[in-house]
Amino acid sequence: MRYFTMAVSPMIGLNDGHGIPVLGLGTWQMSSKAAEAAVGWALEAGYRHVDTAAIYGNEEGVGRALRSGKVAREEVFVATKLWNADHKSPRDALLASLRRLQLDYVDLYLIHFPVPQRVRSWKALEALQAEGLCRSIGVSNFTVRHLEGLFGDCSVVPAVNQVELHPFLYQRGLLELCRKKGVVVEAYSPLTHGQRLDDARLAEVASRCGKSPAQVLIRWCVQKGMVVLPKSANKERIAENADVFGFRINEGDMAFLDSLDEGFRTCWNPTDAP
Ligand SMILES: NC(=O)c1ccc[n+]([C@@H]2O[C@H](COP(=O)([O-])OP(=O)(O)OC[C@H]3O[C@@H](n4cnc5c(N)ncnc54)[C@H](OP(=O)(O)O)[C@@H]3O)[C@@H](O)[C@H]2O)c1
Repeated sequence: MRYFTMAVSPMIGLNDGHGIPVLGLGTWQMSSKAAEAAVGWALEAGYRHVDTAAIYGNEEGVGRALRSGKVAREEVFVATKLWNADHKSPRDALLASLRRLQLDYVDLYLIHFPVPQRVRSWKALEALQAEGLCRSIGVSNFTVRHLEGLFGDCSVVPAVNQVELHPFLYQRGLLELCRKKGVVVEAYSPLTHGQRLDDARLAEVASRCGKSPAQVLIRWCVQKGMVVLPKSANKERIAENADVFGFRINEGDMAFLDSLDEGFRTCWNPTDAP
């Protein structure tokens, strides 16, 4: 059955001419079965962007939800990632992801971590894009140093850099470089992996906005011009996290949220990755 739900999220333009919905559903730490249900609820709630990865082990479930007929394939932006163990042949890795997803292309293919062989793999991704197996290509967990190294060596500038970002880890220098180079930043773990949702200062802003702490964190990313990838496996919270386009955090509260930066990471720190 088709739900004919409306897309809730605006789009951002990528440097390769494609568009990406600002809001995407994160699927890390979901089984295939859980991801199938979550993506189904997300499509009903108006999401049109799903973020998965080979290493998440749930591409089959994501693919099943995409084929459920709720929304046409072309209307959904699907991103997956090249895992560290698969850099020997990025093409084989992408073909395997496509098989699991049962798709003939993904909208975005990312180098998941800045492994030492990243420049060689990036050239392979450029070829995969030219071949049409992925529409856009990008990187993840790249610091300023990793990006600058890549810029010096590549002919295609990454369309996105997917990194941990939220008010408690406001990576201004990285954001600034990405803006300058036309790389869209995708905020992962935007809800601090659930670890700071009960912060009293965040609760103050949420109460002033009449919204939940999760909605405020997502909205902060939206107003900073990022793509944002909240994860939830719960139907109500998936809908709650999409309800972020009908309010605005005022300048004072944005500045207050900016001031919460304490370099707090919930995920790994790629700073020292060689
Ligand atoms: N590229 C990378 O290396 C990388 C690394 C980390 C993450 N990511 C991507 O970014 C996505 C998001 O990051 P994340 O999964 O680390 O965590 P997150 O989105 O920051 O937080 C998810 C946690 O918050 C809870 N939650 C969700 N909505 C909520 C709400 N409205 N109120 C209260 N709690 C809520 C979730 O529980 P329920 O599920 O029970 O709702 C879950 O425990 C990932 O799923 C993945 O797609 C990428």
